[in-house]
Amino acid sequence: QLSPIDTAKFVAAKRACDYVEDGMRVGLGTGSTAAWLVRCLGEMVREDGLRIVGVPTSTRTAELARQVGIKVTTLDEAKWLDVTIDGADEFDRELNLIKGGGGALLQEKIVATASDQMIVIADKTKQVETLGAFPLPIEVVPFGWQTTKALLEETISSMDVLGEKTSLRMDGEKPYVTDEGNYIVDLHLNRIGNARQLALVVNQIPGVVENGLFIDICDIAIIGHGDGRVEVRD
Ligand code: A5P
Repeated sequence: QLSPIDTAKFVAAKRACDYVEDGMRVGLGTGSTAAWLVRCLGEMVREDGLRIVGVPTSTRTAELARQVGIKVTTLDEAKWLDVTIDGADEFDRELNLIKGGGGALLQEKIVATASDQMIVIADKTKQVETLGAFPLPIEVVPFGWQTTKALLEETISSMDVLGEKTSLRMDGEKPYVTDEGNYIVDLHLNRIGNARQLALVVNQIPGVVENGLFIDICDIAIIGHGDGRVEVRD
């Protein structure tokens, strides 16, 4: 028996499988919702003979995909993908997203951008009026990270946001390190007035590799409810 939140994630992931057809190259997201998707696709591969190639967005997802029987390759091998299916930390009405709560935003953004279609799968709680209650992850190179963090603070203080705090993401006593060997600075903004502008400005700062705002990247949102209902938005 699944909890309501897991039911919501599972039904969204299950519905997303309808968009995956034989022969497709599929970007596989990261996080607990995406893990449901990978398990569902694995079942289709093993039981229905579905032939797909998966491009995972993290070492965690790569491991799970292999475990469940999905053939895995790199983005460079696949070159272009038919569809990427991933979770999100927040999404708004325009299907703009905050991602990177799981630390995989860089690979996730590269893979989603290299796809004909990006589908986000999420439980209803991820839907917001305005992005920003969830801390915005920024991937930064370790060299000079404190300077980069200070520049981020200076930048956001002049933007249309409510909060201005930043924090280095930790893994116990040490900085959290991404799959690409970088650090993550989380921006506590509460409310992002102009996400498009913020995404552009933040990426101009030397030391910033990428930000967790996905603007105009997502095409479809599949939203799961705790009672098993699913909504599709595009
Ligand atoms: C991973 O870096 C994130 O972008 C995830 O997609 C996001 O954190 C959603 O994860 P859950 O599905 O576990 O909420």
